[in-house]
Amino acid sequence: MKDLQGKVAVITGAAEGIGKALARRAVLDGMKVVLADIDTGALDALTAELTDAGAECLPLRTDVSKAEEVEALADAAYEHYGAVHLLVNNAGVAIAKTVWETTPKDWEWVMGVNFYGVVNGLRAFMPRMLEGGQPGHVVNTASIAGLLSMPALAAYNASKFAVVTVSEGLYHDLALRKAPIGVSVLCPAWVKTRIAESGRHRGGEGIAGASAQSQKMGLAVMKAVEGGIAPEAVADAVFAAVAEDRFYILTHPDSHAGVKVRMDDILKDRKPTLLSM
Ligand SMILES: NC(=O)c1ccc[n+]([C@@H]2O[C@H](COP(=O)([O-])OP(=O)(O)OC[C@H]3O[C@@H](n4cnc5c(N)ncnc54)[C@H](O)[C@@H]3O)[C@@H](O)[C@H]2O)c1
Repeated sequence: MKDLQGKVAVITGAAEGIGKALARRAVLDGMKVVLADIDTGALDALTAELTDAGAECLPLRTDVSKAEEVEALADAAYEHYGAVHLLVNNAGVAIAKTVWETTPKDWEWVMGVNFYGVVNGLRAFMPRMLEGGQPGHVVNTASIAGLLSMPALAAYNASKFAVVTVSEGLYHDLALRKAPIGVSVLCPAWVKTRIAESGRHRGGEGIAGASAQSQKMGLAVMKAVEGGIAPEAVADAVFAAVAEDRFYILTHPDSHAGVKVRMDDILKDRKPTLLSM
């Protein structure tokens, strides 16, 4: 999808980090934006900023893990703008724990936002985008953790691998129907955002109950995120991929070598190589 002027984007997890950079970039390209997030304070601040800059935007408090709230988001987007051209299922949370330390509540939270958030977005928007018949594009935010398995990120890895395979399947389902809707899956490594402070969304509950080793890993993740690339660079990569209709968006050059090592591990019957991210 090349000409975005006047078209409509829906972005989840839009209030901060990568989502905010995507929203700003969409507005720069002349798009109208529907902004979905649970953080109403940050959502209001972004809406004021974009509206002051002359953009048309519709903010809606939406918990993407709740199917009925995502349906209401789609209802509002279509009532307001009549069409959606770019859907970015981006909202996400992270927790650093091994699989045996991850509680049922942790799994429900991480899978609820990262995986069901994407599924809820696709279920609510795809039928309407297909029926509209207009050219469109869907971007699902996974992570390099959807292509490589990192230690002490059990639930996060699982949720992101699931997003990658759902996106690949979605691509085939749309291509088989010759639908004019492109698909991309976003797989960044470290990006300087507040993802390592995701516990803020559940009353500050973070890596409580995790072993010293996992806590150490959690701190290492925080440090890596702090040294990550700017969210604006990710937004540029996403909009380039949408314009060129590219599927895999790997924002960090080192990621390719890591993916190759993992594929070689599988094909050469080796044990998984521990990769530094
Ligand atoms: N930052 C990184 O290093 C990195 C790397 C790879 C992938 N990602 C992915 O990028 C996406 C965006 O994360 P970020 O790094 O910008 O983090 P962030 O914490 O800065 O932003 C995440 C946004 O999602 C919102 N959110 C959280 N739970 C929600 C819910 N239930 N419903 C709706 N919105 C919700 C938050 O309020 C926040 O605005 C996530 O899917 C994350 O997994 C991040």
